[in-house]
Amino acid sequence: MAGITNAAYRRLCLEQATAEGGSSLFVCEMITSRGLVEGDATTRSMLVFDELEEIRSVQLYGTDPAYVGKATEILCADYGVGHVDLNFGCPVPKVTRKGGGAALPWKRTLLGEILQAAVGAAARYGVPVTMKTRKGIDDDHLTYLDAGRIAQESGVAAIALHGRTAVQGYSGTADWDAIGALVEHVSIPVLGNGDIWEAGDALRMVEQTGAAGVVVGRGCLGRPWLFRDLAAAFADPSGEGVKALPTLGEVSTMMRRHAELLSRHMGEERGCKEFRKHVSWYLKGFAAGGDLRHALALVSSLAELDTLLSELDPDETFPTTVLGAPRGRQGSPRKRVVLPDGWLDDTDGRGLVVREDADETTGG
Ligand SMILES: Cc1cc2nc3c(=O)[nH]c(=O)nc-3n(C[C@H](O)[C@H](O)[C@H](O)COP(=O)(O)O)c2cc1C
Repeated sequence: MAGITNAAYRRLCLEQATAEGGSSLFVCEMITSRGLVEGDATTRSMLVFDELEEIRSVQLYGTDPAYVGKATEILCADYGVGHVDLNFGCPVPKVTRKGGGAALPWKRTLLGEILQAAVGAAARYGVPVTMKTRKGIDDDHLTYLDAGRIAQESGVAAIALHGRTAVQGYSGTADWDAIGALVEHVSIPVLGNGDIWEAGDALRMVEQTGAAGVVVGRGCLGRPWLFRDLAAAFADPSGEGVKALPTLGEVSTMMRRHAELLSRHMGEERGCKEFRKHVSWYLKGFAAGGDLRHALALVSSLAELDTLLSELDPDETFPTTVLGAPRGRQGSPRKRVVLPDGWLDDTDGRGLVVREDADETTGG
């Protein structure tokens, strides 16, 4: 997730998952192929990994097979990356307007060319390539079944499906039936994505759809222990392994650890600034007062964070009202998806040049 899954957060989640013997993969924030190939400093600075990450996993954005192939090569050769995911799920107008993100799979041949370029480059290093996409542009322009077939034919190792169309943005509920339909349609593993707020949702999704695994987005915002719960739930679906909900004291320990890891990776000043955006997610539903929340959202050092966290009541129990409730982006559906002129006229796109900005960082 753009702006969230940097090395520090991935480590925090990894610590949670491994405490339960889980086997999760935490994907680096999306970077652009062009940014990487052209040596863009911001892009390169995002390619930082924690020593605990045994498999370095990176999501690439790309619309041009040549750039995607070269970028994949750089990731494998220069950064020791062991998994590359390609993002075709971004619904943001500035991306779809150029034919990128969730608009791209409409051009089936171009999609295949991009996937093959990545798979070809990664294969030389024995690195698997996966792709992530949405159901399509809107209900009249679905792309996911064709995308699954093309991914399979291109040698992609697995496909993740977010059960919404681009026009839906993050609104409404994800269509898990579409995930099930994709599972039926392809023989490569399908990873289901959309609306996993609790470990029980993941079990239900896998059971309902036959998906080989799940991809978690917003559900982990301010809740890195979701990965501990997921590991426990998959190890013992009977529910016996379900962990107790954290008290505010335990959440506060997690917040401290998050800020500490951010500071370790990017220096204390930047790390604390970066931490600020997570405060409201961590405290969602707890009784902590407005002044304290405000001060935490402006925290500038670990010492100040310690002082502020000590004001929280460590015995406050976890607010069950937030369980299963959406967090992070939601919004309402868009009126329409902005596309290049004539984009829907044909589904091929062979040799089409879709402009790719080097600084595209909006994600999925
Ligand atoms: C802040 C934020 C950043 C995101 N960035 C990315 C991204 O870079 N790549 C991607 O494939 N999806 C990205 N997504 C989408 C999520 O991965 C996921 O597909 C979507 O939120 C639906 O899953 P969920 O219901 O579990 O959140 C982002 C979502 C959010 C809220």
